Amino acid sequence: MSKEKDIKRIKELRSLLHHHDYLYYVEDKPTISDADYDDRFRELKSLESKYPDLVTPDSPTQRVGGEPLKEFKPYQHKKPLLSLDNAMNLEELDDFDRRVREALGEEKIEYAAELKMDGLAVALVYKKGHFAVGSTRGDGVRGEDITQNLKTVKAIPLVLNEEIDLEVRGETYLPYDDFLKLNEERQEKGEALFANPRNAAAGSVRQLDPRITAGRPLDIFLYYGEVPEMATHLETLKYLKKLGFKTNPNTRQCLGLSEVKEYIKEWEKKREKLPYEIDGIVIKVNKLNDQKKLGFTARAPRWAIAFKYPPMQAETVIENIEVQVGRTGAITPVAHLKPVHLAGVVVKRATLHNEDEIRRKEIKIGDHVKVQRAGEVIPEVVEVVKSKRSGYEKEFHMPTACPVCGGKIYRPEGEAIARCTNFACPAQVKERIRHFTTREAMDIEHAGPALIDQLVEKKLIADAADLYTLTKEDILKLERMGEKSAQNVIDSIQGSLSRPFDRLIYSLGIRLVGRRTAQLLADHYFDLDELANATAEELGKIHEIGPKVAEGIVVFFKEKENRHLIEKLVKAGVKVKGGGKRQTGPLKGKKFVFTGGMEHYTRPEAEELVRQLGGSASSAVSKETDYVVAGTDPGSKYDKAKKFGVTILTEGEFVALTHRYDKS
Ligand code: IVH
Repeated sequence: MSKEKDIKRIKELRSLLHHHDYLYYVEDKPTISDADYDDRFRELKSLESKYPDLVTPDSPTQRVGGEPLKEFKPYQHKKPLLSLDNAMNLEELDDFDRRVREALGEEKIEYAAELKMDGLAVALVYKKGHFAVGSTRGDGVRGEDITQNLKTVKAIPLVLNEEIDLEVRGETYLPYDDFLKLNEERQEKGEALFANPRNAAAGSVRQLDPRITAGRPLDIFLYYGEVPEMATHLETLKYLKKLGFKTNPNTRQCLGLSEVKEYIKEWEKKREKLPYEIDGIVIKVNKLNDQKKLGFTARAPRWAIAFKYPPMQAETVIENIEVQVGRTGAITPVAHLKPVHLAGVVVKRATLHNEDEIRRKEIKIGDHVKVQRAGEVIPEVVEVVKSKRSGYEKEFHMPTACPVCGGKIYRPEGEAIARCTNFACPAQVKERIRHFTTREAMDIEHAGPALIDQLVEKKLIADAADLYTLTKEDILKLERMGEKSAQNVIDSIQGSLSRPFDRLIYSLGIRLVGRRTAQLLADHYFDLDELANATAEELGKIHEIGPKVAEGIVVFFKEKENRHLIEKLVKAGVKVKGGGKRQTGPLKGKKFVFTGGMEHYTRPEAEELVRQLGGSASSAVSKETDYVVAGTDPGSKYDKAKKFGVTILTEGEFVALTHRYDKS
């Protein structure tokens, strides 16, 4: 293709991808499949790699996060980013309304009422419609330049629909579910937990390594922008939306304070159901002329106020503390509470996370505590009400033996999580199988948790692979099982034999391997065998996979129980190969192993080349290996290859072989 044509296509792809980013992340209404999006993204990436000097900072490919910074550059705000005055109750809100009415000499004020996002304030500067600088609030006058990180926030447009100069302000936040997931991962790794989504968002936005930020699904709502010719705040928001920004759809015009109060009352209930946290309502005088008349104090605008909701907390008593055993053996202490009403539900249990958290909060059995809840999750204990102690409270001690199987509990040096070390612990077995059957994993709809419990207890299964050996007669032995339901169970198990490769990887329950990582691995490796033989070094080279995750994968495949499980899965007929692009190419199905040094390639480069041509590369020689490429000073793999009768290539032969196809 001519360069001219390529350039035209690059432009086309960029605006196409911008548009689909907008539909997906701002409108939440995607119109193409993820696979189609990925195809176009890859096409753009490959064109850009052909013309590196044509890569622009606002290309959709630049959202992945570049090199880590040593420190953030300070950023001087053109106009200070002010804070808001707070109203802690309705009387203080009345005072605000009175002040505004008096200053404007009007009876009834037109307000805009908005949700007060609990995240981190940022300012975004656009030059001729292109995203130029993103910064934190800092002390209001000077913030930090976090442009690199904000580029990874997909709801922030890199290019606007008009070529204007503009500064907008808004709140970045981490949706509640993503916050929980992040904390789960941190708990697994034994890292300190984020106390709330706000801290998690702040920690993510202020990351020196933008690749870490890119892995955190931050979102944003814009709530302020200075644009000429607008008469009201609500009009401004509409205009921002037209430009391509995400604004909160729940903003409402309120005539007079009584309508504001209705809005406040309404959202106090509805806020629990939001997928993100809000800590109040922001009330703004809608007419910009009126805003101008009211002006600012040194700290905050006089035309706006934040009404703060009381936190969703309640006081109760810890009746007992018990521990739960998770899929990886993680032991989590859980407080059993005297039932208490909290934000619309009755709460009976609260997580205490781990032993260190219990010590830090000085929690004892019998304590009066404040519990807090947000979203749908299990609540947590915020603090002990020490003034209510009687002296009869009991210290909690982590058990030394697993309460389920009696196995030894071990807490490695420097880690926060204690684990049951018995791989065969029924609690772990059940949780592992449960994970395997979930919708996101192998999606075995009719094998629900209760059924799995029975199957494990009756010793009909001991791991996920055993599911595939079950017969209808086995199922019929269980409680409340009829012919039809039993058949459904069998059918749904058999129906899962050919799930996509990434689902299979995810379903294995490898520590720290979530769905995203599973997809990356499925893209990279040809089959389970190749993945199982990958070294930590090799894994760490995959973009977005860090050393801890890589280590977790290697450790998983080293365990003899896991190897055994995989053998059984293969035997049962589970599809253990990738289904995508990697299965075509001239070296399709050919397995390579490299040993010794090479002149023309580093080992990862050579392996990548093999993969690009459809083959696979692994680090261990087996009977299935097709070629061993022996460079200078080959190791024991060379001898093994000879023993198995595997074809041995010199580097020159390898170059000649791949070169034949490389040009095609
Ligand atoms: S308006 C001059 N609107 O709350 C305009 N702020 O407590 C000042 N916030 O620093 C901000 N949601 O980070 C505004 N809908 C909203 C908001 C909001 C959250 C944050 C913002 C501000 C803080 C003040």
